[in-house]
Amino acid sequence: MTPQSAILQPVPDHARHLFFGLKPAADPRAALQVLAAACDGASAVLGIGANVADTLGVKLADLRGFPDLPDARPAIPTTQHALWLWLRGDEPGDLLLQGHALEALAAPAFTRVQAIDSFRHRDSRDLTGYEDGTENPRDEAAVEAAIAHGRGAGIDGSSFAAVQQWLHDFPTFDSMPRAEQDNCFGRERDSNEELDDAPESAHVKRTAQEDFEPEAFVVRRSMPWVEGADAGLVFLAFGKSFDAFEAQLRRMTGHDDGISDALFSFTRPLSGGYYWCPPLGAAGIDLRVLGL
Ligand code: HEM
Repeated sequence: MTPQSAILQPVPDHARHLFFGLKPAADPRAALQVLAAACDGASAVLGIGANVADTLGVKLADLRGFPDLPDARPAIPTTQHALWLWLRGDEPGDLLLQGHALEALAAPAFTRVQAIDSFRHRDSRDLTGYEDGTENPRDEAAVEAAIAHGRGAGIDGSSFAAVQQWLHDFPTFDSMPRAEQDNCFGRERDSNEELDDAPESAHVKRTAQEDFEPEAFVVRRSMPWVEGADAGLVFLAFGKSFDAFEAQLRRMTGHDDGISDALFSFTRPLSGGYYWCPPLGAAGIDLRVLGL
């Protein structure tokens, strides 16, 4: 069981997210096989949406679309696509060109519908200045949280990715006193220390991974994005299923106790999708459970 290795690596300097829709009446088999051979799981991670498995007539127990959360406050958008490619590297020009090559391979069955460039800011900080990823599980704990095991050949070694593009409202954030900004996250920005007296709405209280039943650990690989005057975070979390992310998102949106995450005072998601990242085999990505 070999996962796509990037899942367990720190975030790179640059990344590019590509999202694809399935062309009407297209048979995705040949394009998937070519993409699976072309993605090494290190510089290019392949994620597959539930509708692709549906099209192939395959039911994978844990693969589903991004949820509708009717009682979420605020509302959470769903923009589920058929495929997601996460390209990682040192330089955005190279990622663009690598993306073009992969888009050409996908083209017989898939159309690219969105592209987002992202980058590492300082020592993995969000553009608000807060360090992101501190409480990520590491080493064996990361494997335990993010990689499926004991579920059969072809699923073992795979991972389940939740991807959301968030848009920050910088004028609102910048107008907050520092104490209020710290309270939004529940951490002091410069020291990165957790606040003893953080409000219940603080982001790290909403998402404290050991406070869920069962515990909800994920491996986050989020990175900032900028496009023109707009900017924010591409949130990316890997789990052994989508359940831990979904439990966190529900608590952030008030599902458990009516309290919404204070992050929503200055940022909101524009998109959201779920993608299954198959394991690596001897000759590229292993799609045996899709019958390929
Ligand atoms: C713009 C959106 C977001 C920003 C800027 C953000 C930023 C942060 C920061 C700065 C931390 C504290 C340091 C750390 O442990 O990484 C954190 C923690 C965390 N965030 Fe987020 N986050 C965002 C969205 C989300 C979403 C959508 C989820 C899941 C649904 C999430 C899950 C978590 C988890 C699990 C932790 C660690 C909690 C713990 O166990 O202490 N975050 N986030």
